[in-house]
Formats: sequence, structure tokens, C-alpha cells
Amino acid sequence: MSSFASRIIRYQRERGRHDLPWQRRRTLYRVWVSEIMLQQTQVATVIPYFRRFMRQFPNVKQLAESPLDSVLACWSGLGYYTRARHLHQAAQVIRGSGGRLPRTVEDWMHLPGIGRSTAGAIVSLALNRPAPMLDGNARRVIARHQGLPMTSRVALWRAAEQLLPDRDATAYTQGLMDLGSQCCTPRAPDCTHCPLSKDCHCANHELDEQPSRKRSPLPRRDFWVVIVQSEDGQVLLQQRPTDSIWGGLWSLPEYPDQGAVRRWARNCGKKLEWQEDPPLTHRLSHLELCLHPLRIRIRNSDRESFQKSGRWFDPEQLTVGVATPIMKLIQRDSMP
Ligand code: ADE
Repeated sequence: MSSFASRIIRYQRERGRHDLPWQRRRTLYRVWVSEIMLQQTQVATVIPYFRRFMRQFPNVKQLAESPLDSVLACWSGLGYYTRARHLHQAAQVIRGSGGRLPRTVEDWMHLPGIGRSTAGAIVSLALNRPAPMLDGNARRVIARHQGLPMTSRVALWRAAEQLLPDRDATAYTQGLMDLGSQCCTPRAPDCTHCPLSKDCHCANHELDEQPSRKRSPLPRRDFWVVIVQSEDGQVLLQQRPTDSIWGGLWSLPEYPDQGAVRRWARNCGKKLEWQEDPPLTHRLSHLELCLHPLRIRIRNSDRESFQKSGRWFDPEQLTVGVATPIMKLIQRDSMP
């Protein structure tokens, strides 16, 4: 029987993915950006964002020299915006030290937003140098094959290192990802077509090291958000603090309850009336947000009273980042 790695490499060549945008013209920069996008987002969602990002920021220099707002605008809708802030920050660090992208796992790990697994993926995929990678798919494939619990971090990393091939690192790493997403899937793995099943611990013991996990209910937080809209359709937005949810993105003014909205409205010096729109819930990784929109329509000439509360934007022509649920609220029946 050939080695674990050679079976993975053959699987990648014969049955893996070969035409993803970041696999064509494979450069360190393109692989880096794609791996960051793919950290918490599915391939099909990432593809159009990746293409747009490459058109707008074709190299690390242009990324570093572009305003963060334009990077967040390009990222809008992809979620987990800390990734975009870290990517921009890392580009600036790289530019500051001469503009050459790192070549080793260790050097990549010094950059913000890059852990051991992402660094290993970048180095192996872009430079064809063996480096262990342990994303969700690789973790499952290795845990099942070796009969290790999914929670044994140290043992899984040790196995990931020991199973590495001496060569063909690109095909190997991509093959682990491909096998995990196409064959060794979380539920109902296709063991009859899997090149690893002959010596796979789980396939031969009819047990699954990853019992299906029920999604536990998330804690819920309620917010009241104000959609102040002038006659010509412009909307008042505020930039969110960096250390909050959607940090650095622009959003609607947000309050913990309607009393706080009333106090804010009084401060704006006008007697404001609002319409309560249906709430919208949005799941984040750790929290369920319930947004209660209050819509206020004002005259164009009254926009000045809100100057202190934020900036006015035409929602059709945004050049800043706005999170998807906020965009949905703004665009819901948005014509005055
Ligand atoms: N997930 C993370 N990296 C990936 C890649 N290079 N191809 C497919 N899925 C991935």
C-alpha cells in the first residue's frame, strides 16, 4: 500500500479541484488573500469576492496603500471583517519591511490574522514546500484515519507533521482539503471511494471520531437601529469602533432600547417620529443579533441637525464597508 501522502496526492491529481481562481496564476499574494477569505467562508461564496479583490488590489503594495475603508467596502458581505483589517495591517507591515512576502511558516505567523494552519497552507500551496496545515477538513481526515479525537490538538499537529510528503506539497495540501470536502465529509463519508479507507481507523471500526454536534442556541442580543433617511434617499451612517462587532464598518446608529433612541432624537433638536419596521435576526459565530429598525424620514434641509451623529451616504453608491444585515435593512423598501 502506498503512503498516506501519496494516496492524497494521487486523489488530488485525479479527483481534486484544479480550476479555482487562486489555483490559476498561483502567486504568494493570491494564495495568501484566498486563504484568508477561505478561513471562515465557503469556496463558492469566496470566488466572486476574490476576483473583485484582485481587480481592486492586484498586489501587496496597492493593498497597503489603499484606505482601510476601501478594503472593507470590497469585503462587505463576506463577514468576519477582522480578517480584512488584519489583511490590510499585514500588507502595511510587509510594505514597511521592503515589500517582499514572507517565505517561511514562522515569518507568516508573525503577521496579524495568520495562525499556524493558514501559514502552513500558504507556504505549501504557493511555494510547494512541505508544511503542515490543519483546517477543519484536514483535521477531520487525519483524526479519522489515525483514530484520534478531533479535540487532541497536540496529537493532531504531530500527526499532520509526520504524514507530510517530502515533495508535491501543493497537491498534498490541496488534496487534504479536497478529500475532506468531497469524500471524507462530516456526515455520511463516502468510505467506499476513499483512497484512505484500507488503513483508516474509523472506516475499519465503523465509528466516527466526530459525532454530529447539535448547534447549541446562541445568546441573543437586541438592538434598536435608526434608519434616518432624507427625501433624496441618503442615509445617516456611523463608523463602528474597531473593537466591536463589525469594527471599522459603517452602520446605522444603534441603541440598547427605545428610551435611548428617544434621548438621542431629542438631542438632534427636532421632534422626530419613527415607524417601527419588522425586526431582523442575524447569526454571528457567537451571538444572535436581533435588530429592531426604526425608520425616520426627514427633509433634505434637516440633514444638518444630524451632522454630529454621523455622515450621509447614498446607499446606491457606497465606498465604505457595510455589514450585510445592515445593508438589507437600509435597502428594505428604502425609497422615500
Ligand atoms: N479552504 C481553505 N483553503 C482552500 C483551498 N485552497 N481550496 C479549497 N478550499 C479551501
